[in-house]
This record gives sequence, C-alpha cells and structure tokens, in this order.
Amino acid sequence: MKLVIGNDHAATELKFQIMAYLEQKGVEVINVGTDTNESFDYAIAAFKAGKLVASGEADGGVLICGTGVGISMAANKVRGIRAAACSDPVTARLTKQHNNANIICFGARIVGLEMAKAIVDAWMNSEFEGGRHQNRIDMIAEIEETQNLAAAQ
Ligand code: RB5
Repeated sequence: MKLVIGNDHAATELKFQIMAYLEQKGVEVINVGTDTNESFDYAIAAFKAGKLVASGEADGGVLICGTGVGISMAANKVRGIRAAACSDPVTARLTKQHNNANIICFGARIVGLEMAKAIVDAWMNSEFEGGRHQNRIDMIAEIEETQNLAAAQ
C-alpha cells in the first residue's frame, strides 16, 4: 500500500511519528508536508496530497494540521477527494465504511500519538460497504461536478 502524508507546522513531529508507524507496517509513504516548525500553509500539503490520491498515484492519504479541519477543507476542494477530519477511531472506521473517505485527517493539537495511531489503523483496516452508501457518495460527486443535485430539485 502507498499512502501520501502531509502536514503544516503544527503537526511536524506527529507527522514523523505517524510516518515511522506506517513504514514499520510496510506501508510506502510519500511525504508532501513541511519537515520544519516554520509557518507553513496547510493548503499546499492538502493540494499535493489530494492530487496524488485523486490520480491514483497514492492509495490514500493522511493529513495533519493543528485541528485537522483546515487541511481537510482544502483537500476536499480537489475533485474526487473525500477527506474526513476525525478525532476518534469510531468515526475513522465509519468514514471509510460509509463515506469511502480516501484521506483521513486529524489535529496534532487535538489528539495524542496513540489516538492518532488508532485513527489511522481504524481507517486503513476498514472497507467501504457500498450499497446505499455508494448512492450517497455519488450525490457528493454530482454536487462537485455540476453544482447541482437532481434529487434535491
Ligand atoms: C495553524 O496555526 C492552524 O491554524 C492550522 O494548523 C489548523 O489548525 C487549521 O485548521
């Protein structure tokens, strides 16, 4: 499995810890975040990660900023990205099972290392359930592509 990881200055240390955790599991990791604590705009990492996931060059992504929110908002502007900001492993599991989240996001100022590992594991080890959930993510894509939703008319 190949994952892209990205972060801003608020999450550099946690990014390196999660990178090491993933690599120790045999995951190939592409790092598109900052490696320093100097101010770094999270949209840059979100955009680079989103493009790699949307193109299929990466199987998924992990994005970390202070809260996980800004970086998820930016990633969700890339067509085809479903990035979910999570602070717990239950949400992380359900967002793969129901929303087929292709990027998982969390906040280095919100969760500690062990919770971050549990979030990543829950997301990586779950499968999309399809069925009615596919119809719903198709609607998300329809909004993205057309700025319209036939079912809402
Ligand atoms: C950076 O200070 C902070 O705003 C950023 O990491 C993130 O929390 C934004 O959503």
